[in-house]
Amino acid sequence: MTTERKKLNEVDSGVVKNLQKVVNFMEEKKYYPVKRYLEIQRSAILDMEGFWSKEARDIPWFKEWDKVLEWEPPFAKWFVGAKLNACYTCVDIHMISWRKNKVAIYWEGEDGSTKSYSYAQLYREVNKFASIMKNLGVREGDIVVLYLPMIPELPISMLATARIGATHTVVFSGFSSQALADRINDTGAKYLVTADFGMRRGKHYPLKTIVDEALKQTPTVQKVIFIKRSEEEIELMDGRDFTYQELMEKAEKYVEPVAVESTHPLYILYTSGTTGKPKGIIHSTGGYLVYNYVTYKWVFDISDESIYWCTADVGWVTGHSSIVYAPLLHGATILVYEGAPDYPQPDRWWELIERYGVTIFYTSPTAIRMFMRYGEEWIKKHDLSSLKILGSVGEPINPEVWEWYYQVIGGERCPIVDTWWQTETGGIMISPAPGLELVPLKPGSATLPLPGIDAEVVDDTGKPVPPGKKGYLVIRKPWPSMLMGIYKDPERYREVYWSKFEGLYYTGDYAIKDEEGYFWILGRADEVLKVAGHRMGTAEIESVVVEVPFVAEAAVIGIPDPIKGENIVIFAILKEGYREDGKLKDEIVKALRKQIGPIATPKSIHFVEKLPKTRSGKIMRRVLKAIVKGETIGDISTLEDEASVEEIKTIFHEFKEIFGKDDSNKSEN
Ligand code: WT7
Repeated sequence: MTTERKKLNEVDSGVVKNLQKVVNFMEEKKYYPVKRYLEIQRSAILDMEGFWSKEARDIPWFKEWDKVLEWEPPFAKWFVGAKLNACYTCVDIHMISWRKNKVAIYWEGEDGSTKSYSYAQLYREVNKFASIMKNLGVREGDIVVLYLPMIPELPISMLATARIGATHTVVFSGFSSQALADRINDTGAKYLVTADFGMRRGKHYPLKTIVDEALKQTPTVQKVIFIKRSEEEIELMDGRDFTYQELMEKAEKYVEPVAVESTHPLYILYTSGTTGKPKGIIHSTGGYLVYNYVTYKWVFDISDESIYWCTADVGWVTGHSSIVYAPLLHGATILVYEGAPDYPQPDRWWELIERYGVTIFYTSPTAIRMFMRYGEEWIKKHDLSSLKILGSVGEPINPEVWEWYYQVIGGERCPIVDTWWQTETGGIMISPAPGLELVPLKPGSATLPLPGIDAEVVDDTGKPVPPGKKGYLVIRKPWPSMLMGIYKDPERYREVYWSKFEGLYYTGDYAIKDEEGYFWILGRADEVLKVAGHRMGTAEIESVVVEVPFVAEAAVIGIPDPIKGENIVIFAILKEGYREDGKLKDEIVKALRKQIGPIATPKSIHFVEKLPKTRSGKIMRRVLKAIVKGETIGDISTLEDEASVEEIKTIFHEFKEIFGKDDSNKSEN
């Protein structure tokens, strides 16, 4: 037995013990059908490779693997030696079945315009787009940056990129020109696909100007494809800029899908961490697709009758896995909507669900909380009886919000799948699985790990904590859609995910496992914020704030927010000679919107003389947080200067005004 194999087996007993607790719980509750889940989980944990290789046979490969897993911790390679093509597995495969004429994508824009694509139409578009990319010089292994709003051409360009063996990097179209430029420069991409505008709240936001601004700083970009949506002329740079429509006229009808290695990077997606610089998370092709194929079937119980709608933006991992790859692998019908959820009225989404007969609806707690505020009358106007399964993702869902979602949206008929996962995990890890065996639900808990996922809650030393105790959520074994690394930075990969606990993948989240083995995710344990489900690093925000000419120092914290889950609060020290005159705060907001985008707009900014720091100069964000939340501060023995705390306490009334009195003490961390 190799050492790596020994290590994997050593932790088995823990999981099996946890399973036994689950069995007891289910039996006590007289809930016997879960046997299937338990059996599958047991066999998956005991024979991981056998389990995944069996599941992997459900997607089409050009060549089978020589080895299921090559695990050289912390680097995992799945289905080594196998060959496949992501576009082929999602599109071509449906050309040889009745699904050829099934709707793949329904698209609707905020202004009511609609489009739809059958799988055959999708196949044609993808082939043509692949051919124009090829003609522009894109080759296997190249990186193509996609900066696009929620239009069908976004999945089309992802699939076309994959078809020719290139790697895509989607940049959320709400990111600013600077954020776009930073991501392009980190990848060194030569190709960019974008559009002239995006739609939101009755307005067109001009992507073209943002892109022009970004391109001033991106020397590597050689070719840009603009998807023209309006009749308005756009200024194109000769030899560099092309319009999609013009190129498509000359496109070929068929492009051979390139057979890539299973470990070939399907995409790189940037996400925030604890330092100022976002990380380029690399995902494979084979392992990623297998895992998403399987978990999508378990979690969403997908069938040919399903009309599936995930409201996320394709710019995030949810969009990659749960809008594009997993549904299309299954030949599902998806709805893609471009626009704000409550525009022109707060029933925009419910009206869409009724009209398209959506059966599976997957959204975020932030959105649900917003609709709770609008009141039930907007929902009651529509017939939502087509719904069968409801999903939640991106942040913890509070039990009261869960209940409301279950009753008002789901009519007490639809199980809620609270799906815990991350950009890094590539696919859903902890979630109820109605497509496999629906375990009894507990509002606010993501329930149990999916089969094959060995999750645990541990203390500072990496030992499992007793039931009901808060600890760090870790994963103990590799899984097929596990990130392959951080682009150009294997050291950082090791450091961020594998150095806190020897041999365990550190998620960065706090969690509790209860007596019955159910997982309750409590939020981030690191300096990462979740604002309306968007992930941002405090360091990333701070680095923008300290660049503002009049700012000497800054500290950013996340504060509980009744709708967004968390919100940004900034403390800043002004440089000598500056005083707040009503404009300085605006300048900071402007800088954040320019460098990151509107998602980084803070809830409040406070100018102070001093920041609480340790003697070694580390800002004690914990202390700031406690003061703003009106909580006891805890141990401040390492604090360098207590005056800083006193000062912030004196502006406590500002916080009360902004956050209200009774919001404090409610959140876990
Ligand atoms: C972080 C990952 C994965 C899709 C979107 C987010 C939080 C995610 C849940 C959930 C509680 C959740 C965690 C995680 N999170 N899903 N169901 N319950 N928290 O991807 O931007 O990479 O963020 O989102 O804190 O670590 P992401």
